[in-house]
Amino acid sequence: MFTDTHAHIFKEYYEDIDKVIKDAKMNGVNKIICASTKISDAKEIIKTSSSYNEMYYCLGIHPEEVKENLDELKRLIEEVKDDPKFVGIGEIGLDYHYGKETKDKQLKYFDEQLSLAEEYHLPVVIHSRDATQDTIDILKKHHVKGIMHCFSGSKETAKILMDMGLYFGVGGVMTFKNAKIDEVIKDIPLERIVLETDSPYLTPEPYRKYQNEPKYIKTIAEHLSEVKIIPLNELSVVINKNVKDIFDI
Ligand code: NI
Repeated sequence: MFTDTHAHIFKEYYEDIDKVIKDAKMNGVNKIICASTKISDAKEIIKTSSSYNEMYYCLGIHPEEVKENLDELKRLIEEVKDDPKFVGIGEIGLDYHYGKETKDKQLKYFDEQLSLAEEYHLPVVIHSRDATQDTIDILKKHHVKGIMHCFSGSKETAKILMDMGLYFGVGGVMTFKNAKIDEVIKDIPLERIVLETDSPYLTPEPYRKYQNEPKYIKTIAEHLSEVKIIPLNELSVVINKNVKDIFDI
């Protein structure tokens, strides 16, 4: 059994969420952690997760959504702080690839949401794109554990983040042709890796023509077991321990 540590299962993308969950379970994915990117997502996932034992959630405002109201997020977090399905702050971070013009606001939102994670003793799920140094600098000001989602940095960056205690989310990108990330992943100990789909985006090969779903975690796990040269059942034991250490689920 595996956990998809990062997915966006919302009505905006999926007509039949029942089927998505069912197909995931049939493929050995019995836990799915959904991350919000904006307030409407956050409200939806609080509701949806109560209908599915398999579904957990993180609340956060994505760096591309910094027009959203941070105070409203804080109010929601306070409301659900005792919900056992609420397991982290995310997806938060910095994206200078798409949003360089909102850089100052992104820095403020990231910083404040990291403070929320500290305040509520929750792990974080971090999105960082073309913003490595600022991400590292801001993380150094906080004491948080969590995951570098869709990590695509260098070995050097991985080393710095590893020394800070962070984990690395590995997903469909690893299966793409010419993906150089395999080389970096080889160097990261399995004890620091978790699996994620980032559904509905980044479907792994050979299914790229389909919309991504948590069921494809199986494909990602198989690819990782080849990269790490470790049997799938042994891989799952280590990865599940990592998920437990981060999210306590
Ligand atoms: Ni995402």
